[in-house]
Amino acid sequence: MSASESADAAAGAIPESLDPEAVNKERRYFLIGASAFTGAIGIGFAAVPFVRSWSPSAKAKAAGAPVSIDVSKLRPGEMLGPTPAWRGKPVFVVSRSEAAVANLQQENAELADPESDNLDMQPEYAKNAWRARRPEFGIYLGLCTHLGCSPKYYGEVKPEAFDPEWQGGFFCPCHGSRFDLAGRVVAGLPAPDNLEVPPHQFVSDTVVQIGVDEETA
Ligand code: FES
Repeated sequence: MSASESADAAAGAIPESLDPEAVNKERRYFLIGASAFTGAIGIGFAAVPFVRSWSPSAKAKAAGAPVSIDVSKLRPGEMLGPTPAWRGKPVFVVSRSEAAVANLQQENAELADPESDNLDMQPEYAKNAWRARRPEFGIYLGLCTHLGCSPKYYGEVKPEAFDPEWQGGFFCPCHGSRFDLAGRVVAGLPAPDNLEVPPHQFVSDTVVQIGVDEETA
């Protein structure tokens, strides 16, 4: 018996170590601590899959896991890319102005496949003048369909050294292939096909997932 317990006994008080109130108090503190700890683990387990769904690992990306891209900061005429990559391939995300969208709807006799008839190069929902789900956002794999170089983005309508009547689009410096702002290839140049449109879907107004759509989900 401790000195304080001897004093308690002398005074007729219950020693603290035997006091049921004190024991219950200690147990309550333990349970609060334990549940706080368990809660922290629970939050941890809940948060990890959420974070991962927005940021797949490099290995998962290479295997084809969908990649989410926030397009909220993209202004008309700008391009995001050539990263992030999907399946190890660069992705271009371009924001098109209303004028650019209207321009894509004009007949253009220079194009090899203006109607996107080669369905190997885009999903069915991208078989339109802008080759995309939404006219204002073009999403293409950044690989030239000739030998796989990465074309450069020239978004402005202005004369360029490779085309004095340039209307905006992509130019491949390797062998001179040109593509319009919908990734449609100009005929008679080395690249045989339009740029590929990967499967994609908008999960909100400003976030697009590359690599997944209603057909592949
Ligand atoms: Fe693009 Fe040859 S790789 S034109």
